[in-house]
Amino acid sequence: MKQKSVFICSECGNQSPKWMGKCTMCGSWNTMEEEIILPSSSPVASFSPPSSPKKIAEIDSSAEVRQGTGMSELDRVLGGGLVKGSFVLVGGDPGIGKSTLLLQICEFLGQTSKILYVSGEESPNQIKLRGERLGITTDNLKVYSETNMNYIKNAIAEENPDIIIVDSVQTMLNPEIGSSPGNVSQIKDVTSSFMRIAKDNNITVFLVGHVTKDGAIAGPKILEHMVDTVLYFEGDNQQSYRILRAVKNRFGSTNEIGVFEMEAGGLSQVANPSEALLSGRPEDSIGSCICCSMEGTRPVLAEIQALISPTSFGNPRRMTQGPDLNRVLMLLAVMEKQSGLHINSYDAYVNIVGGFKISETATDLGIVLALASSFRNRSLDKGIVAIGEVGLTGETRSVSFLEGRIQEAEKMGFTTCLIPYINSKKLRKFENIEVIPVKHIKDAINKFL
Ligand code: TYD
Ligand code: MG
Repeated sequence: MKQKSVFICSECGNQSPKWMGKCTMCGSWNTMEEEIILPSSSPVASFSPPSSPKKIAEIDSSAEVRQGTGMSELDRVLGGGLVKGSFVLVGGDPGIGKSTLLLQICEFLGQTSKILYVSGEESPNQIKLRGERLGITTDNLKVYSETNMNYIKNAIAEENPDIIIVDSVQTMLNPEIGSSPGNVSQIKDVTSSFMRIAKDNNITVFLVGHVTKDGAIAGPKILEHMVDTVLYFEGDNQQSYRILRAVKNRFGSTNEIGVFEMEAGGLSQVANPSEALLSGRPEDSIGSCICCSMEGTRPVLAEIQALISPTSFGNPRRMTQGPDLNRVLMLLAVMEKQSGLHINSYDAYVNIVGGFKISETATDLGIVLALASSFRNRSLDKGIVAIGEVGLTGETRSVSFLEGRIQEAEKMGFTTCLIPYINSKKLRKFENIEVIPVKHIKDAINKFL
């Protein structure tokens, strides 16, 4: 019998009977991969046993058991601990520390749970070596280097673990599907198999996923729909700070972040990100300003650095690392027009120290002051924190959670906090920090630089 095949887009999962250079659904090039169609035998996740609709008031929610992971930064991102029977996808660049994080929590989880660590990437030997470095001694952790889903299912049935860690979904293979590991249909099949295992047996499953060059988890978007929680581990390979972020969480908020630092003995938690991000800050540095961004419920202070230098080619260069480039372009235009600083013909570089990414507009005023400081070649007083959004006419605009931000600045020993004028009316008094309302960027630049 002739085998039927179909072409599936590895970006969006769009199917086509013919090969195409460009996916008609998502527009990506060279993403259509041929896969053999099998007679449909494997239904997608069925929840046994059959059940009937229930009144919401009658549903027993006490079944949701939270388990600490021994890492409060991870617990926070998970929404207050690991939910038993949940299905967690962890994505991130290679070498960012996904395997390290998951192996590291085994020591604590192993005190109460049986764990099966399935790796398609490393040999038991390699995992053992890493485990030794991380100080993993628990008796409750079993390591299985295998990629064949049939064997893995057998091992799970035999071992009956409470927690399964799968590293990574792109290496796992269902041999009945005629495509290679990492293809869309393999990823879908493997994920739905693990989902069935998680939901039917109330086993918690961690699934590691690789990311594409755009930073999305490789494979169809449907992967993220299937799981309960999607975590992204991000950060610079050159920097030691790592940020864990939830982009989807059925059991908690997605705003919280966890901050870690990669050290020789594995990941350590950074309980006070402001302190870590501000450490090593030189005094009287030109082009530097401290801003405050809300990361979930936590205010985080970060240092913005800007460099303005004469353009040597026709078009000025603008580069950012951390802040959004378009936002910085807008702020440069506002400064040119509204503050009398003629920076249009200069190159501008803006950076957030520590590899932190910030997208909050409350950092606008800090960016403007850092740029102006570099332009005027004068440094800001090192006790200043600048908070405020900047509008197109150069006015400052209100920001949320202002008191929490000022409090954080006060706690970290800063002496002056610039805030939007509009926020200043109903603000409580602070003892150790002077709060100065600012109406327009021109006022701030002329007064403090
Ligand atoms: P890893 O967890 O293997 O990354 P991923 O699984 O996301 O690809 O991260 C490994 C990196 O971290 C590697 O480059 C070495 C470094 N590392 C340390 O610095 N200290 C350690 O204790 C460990 C285990 C790794
Ligand atoms: Mg790994």
